[in-house]
Amino acid sequence: MELSARTADPLTIKTDCLIVPINEGGKLSANGAIIDKATGGLMTRCRDNGDISGKLGTTLMLHEPAGLSAKRLLLVGIGDVPPSVEQFLKICKAAAKAASGDAIKTAATTLTQIAISGHDQQWAAMQLSRLFVEGSYSYKKVGAKAPGKNKLKKVTVACKDRSGLAANKAGITLGSTIAAGVNKARYLGDLPGNTCTPPYLASQARALGRKHASISTKVLSEKQMQELGMGALLSVSAGSKHPAHLIAMEYQGAAKTSKPIVLVGKGVTFDSGGISLKPGAKMDEMKYDMCGAASVFGVMEALAVIQPKLNVVGLVPTVENMPSSTATRPGDVVTSMSGQTIEILNTDAEGRLILCDALSYAARYKPDAVIDIATLTGACIMALGHFATGLLSNDQDLADDLLRAGQNAGDRAWQLPLWEEYDQQLKSNFADTPNIGGAGAGTITAACFLGRFTKDYKWAHMDIAGTAWNSAGPKGATGRPVPLLLEYLLNRAS
Ligand code: BES
Ligand code: MN
Ligand code: ZN
Repeated sequence: MELSARTADPLTIKTDCLIVPINEGGKLSANGAIIDKATGGLMTRCRDNGDISGKLGTTLMLHEPAGLSAKRLLLVGIGDVPPSVEQFLKICKAAAKAASGDAIKTAATTLTQIAISGHDQQWAAMQLSRLFVEGSYSYKKVGAKAPGKNKLKKVTVACKDRSGLAANKAGITLGSTIAAGVNKARYLGDLPGNTCTPPYLASQARALGRKHASISTKVLSEKQMQELGMGALLSVSAGSKHPAHLIAMEYQGAAKTSKPIVLVGKGVTFDSGGISLKPGAKMDEMKYDMCGAASVFGVMEALAVIQPKLNVVGLVPTVENMPSSTATRPGDVVTSMSGQTIEILNTDAEGRLILCDALSYAARYKPDAVIDIATLTGACIMALGHFATGLLSNDQDLADDLLRAGQNAGDRAWQLPLWEEYDQQLKSNFADTPNIGGAGAGTITAACFLGRFTKDYKWAHMDIAGTAWNSAGPKGATGRPVPLLLEYLLNRAS
């Protein structure tokens, strides 16, 4: 999809589909009034007759509107008050969806001219482009020659006058790049577990390093991890025929001496539960257990294009969790890279086992902050459902920065407490720590477990179990929290 900004008169612009906002109550906006007048009161009539109320996110497609050069006029309801961030994103999503019909190859829109409190034109153009490009994502099925149909090829962002042109252009470039990162994460997430294996992710990381001069990739083998003492990580892949890897993608955008932010993404390419086997229902969705890793790939790719002035390391511990005669048993005790021993009471609590060794490894970068992203606990879905990512941190400033980034990106997180009392739920007779924390607060005890390996730096943990994919309507990876992470990182650079 190609996006561009230009000053254009909505009345004379030649396009398959002109997309304009319509407010719910009161008089039409100045822009709306111009189109209404040119079309002989079409907008007013549609609203008065109840064809479209103007309620936020509603749409109405009108064909061959007299008085306009556009072949279609798409009205998009924006409600009756200036939209919030979340509301503006809903408006853009609704517009992108309604304009994705087979016959529409080009579209033009004045949506970025809506005023959003606290944000400028560039921001609006960025979000609009992001959502249109995200809306164009379709998964390429195994054996298919091309990805599914995506007819919309050109979108023009119509600016009022020349003054806003540069800002709109900058917004479009940034928004498209962020969306490409989101779509990359979605694609990796949607790939089946028999394609997207740990070696596959390693090859993807090497490809990223080859493609971008600013990224260098290292892939650790099982032997190298053995030498580093990563007994926790290796215990998870013991039952799989696919070898485990620890992938490091280093983006350098600032001086070597500038401390990096390290992102650690859980890369369980399939989580059967291991010997503590999961029930069959929905087990297919455990191909999504590498969505944390996928989000790191998406972020790294976007950084390489945007080139912000900071250093970021993407670490991906990747394994497949399978039952077999060589698999780890419940009750087994392993030694992690940190030296702490772990009693594995449930082999299905495997994410924390691969993360703890990756988090110990992260210390060697002398990081400014470490953020891990993981589909870690079903309990997070119980606590927060599918709208908010769970956030836990040992540093409140870091947590606040991430929460704010989530707000501004429309990719929200919600903080849970990391209190000492919860940490006491982790007790073992046979090792320094068990890998599960008993009944109650499963998301928090999982984070407390990780907290035992992150004492030396500022750290935040993001549990994306509820936000990384949609189970229905239709099923697919969301690419979250790529928008949040990029918002945070780009703010850090500026
Ligand atoms: N990958 C799962 C968590 C998960 C489950 C995410 C369902 C999204 C949907 C994780 O490895 C897991 O199995 N966690 C267990 C932990 C338990 C054994 C303490 C869980 O949540 O049941
Ligand atoms: Mn599991
Ligand atoms: Zn898992």
